[in-house]
Amino acid sequence: MTMSVVGCGYLGAVHAASMASLGHRVVGLDIDANKIRSLESGTAPFFEPGLPELLLRDQENGSLEFSTDFHAAAEADLHFICVGTPQREGEHRANLDYVDAAFASIASVAKEGAVLVGKSTVPVGTAERLSREVAASRPDLTVAWNPEFLREGHAVEDTLRPDRLVYGVADPDAPSRAAELLDAVYASAIEAGTPRLVVNLPTAELVKTAANSFLATKISFVNAMAEMCEVSGANVTQLADAIGHDERIGRKFLNAGIGFGGGCLPKDIRAFSARAGELGAEEALTFLREIDLINMRRRSRAVEAMRQMAGGSLIGVTVGVLGTAFKPFSDDVRDSPALSIAQQLQLQGATVRVTDPEAVENSRRRFPELSYTDSMEAAVSDADIVAVLTEWTEYRSLTPADLEPHVRGRRVFDGRNVLDREAFASAGWTYQGVGR
Ligand code: UDX
Repeated sequence: MTMSVVGCGYLGAVHAASMASLGHRVVGLDIDANKIRSLESGTAPFFEPGLPELLLRDQENGSLEFSTDFHAAAEADLHFICVGTPQREGEHRANLDYVDAAFASIASVAKEGAVLVGKSTVPVGTAERLSREVAASRPDLTVAWNPEFLREGHAVEDTLRPDRLVYGVADPDAPSRAAELLDAVYASAIEAGTPRLVVNLPTAELVKTAANSFLATKISFVNAMAEMCEVSGANVTQLADAIGHDERIGRKFLNAGIGFGGGCLPKDIRAFSARAGELGAEEALTFLREIDLINMRRRSRAVEAMRQMAGGSLIGVTVGVLGTAFKPFSDDVRDSPALSIAQQLQLQGATVRVTDPEAVENSRRRFPELSYTDSMEAAVSDADIVAVLTEWTEYRSLTPADLEPHVRGRRVFDGRNVLDREAFASAGWTYQGVGR
């Protein structure tokens, strides 16, 4: 298949490289010349395991190219629109300017009968509106929606081996060229038995926001249970293990901690609520506001817990923060609970020394006032409190003996419940986890 991928950010760069690795001919398009230059040299503009190797290999064998000129997409049968839909400044709604511009640009160059496939996460109703707008100037083109469920840090693997394929088309009961072309694109996944669902356009859009809302709800649910554990003396990790054995509940996404962040879950639940309001169905999603509140409360409670550990004030206290990425195997600090906590500690008077295996540069750009280092030892040097805020493998295995030569005080805040609590307690440390 010959295809274009419009928008070479997280979603698009991974999609373009993964599709090329399946043997398709792909041109990746972006209006940002710097991003295109970086991708051409095999450098991903973000940390994603496996992506640089694919970028180099696909470009070498000629299956992948990048361009800022949309005319390079003129011969493509399909165009995947992968541009961002960030939260609008000062409100909860999604900003659709990039999606609208991408559809308009592609519609102006696409060949006769091409299919325009949206992958961006959009408010329900967007695909039908875009179908009407595209049809006004190019009735030969078709708009379909094919949501993407990739997780950062596992993006290549999730794209090549998705757990389901969802195609949103105008009429799911009739054979469609869009479904036929998408079947050819995903032939290897379909052959491997990946479930494939053909649904109408609003269902396809909702599948994505519903899935992210469910995941956010699971995390906030267990974090609310952590609050109950804290006031009752129960242990949230054991509670999650026990309820997780019920296969209707499942153990995944029941890790209590400092909450969810990143470029998707926080903004998606807010945009979803805003859309419900626009459609007169606000009540259906009022619970998402509570999910958001529970999540944000984790951050202030973490700061409060460390203030208590320091004896009631953070002024003059040194905190060594391990981890600022919103999750391990990522350098993404968008809405990262870890980085937000580090900043709040500093605002309350603490000296905050921060490190992360991949996210130091992005963190520094966001909050230059914190003190950054690439070395774990330097971050915890003379620390009164060590705070593990992102569960990178190297932090999970930390023992008291690893930290003792460097720290000033034996206090550890385990924001992801990954340390060996008994080991720290028996070595004379004050250990504070979340809900245990
Ligand atoms: C998410 C969805 O998982 C993915 O399907 C969608 O396409 C994009 O949004 P991602 O943002 O990469 O993916 O991260 P995810 O792995 O879902 O983690 C989100 C946040 O939840 C992280 O901050 C993580 O630390 C937190 N989390 C996750 C918990 O606090 N507890 C858990 O049990 C799981």
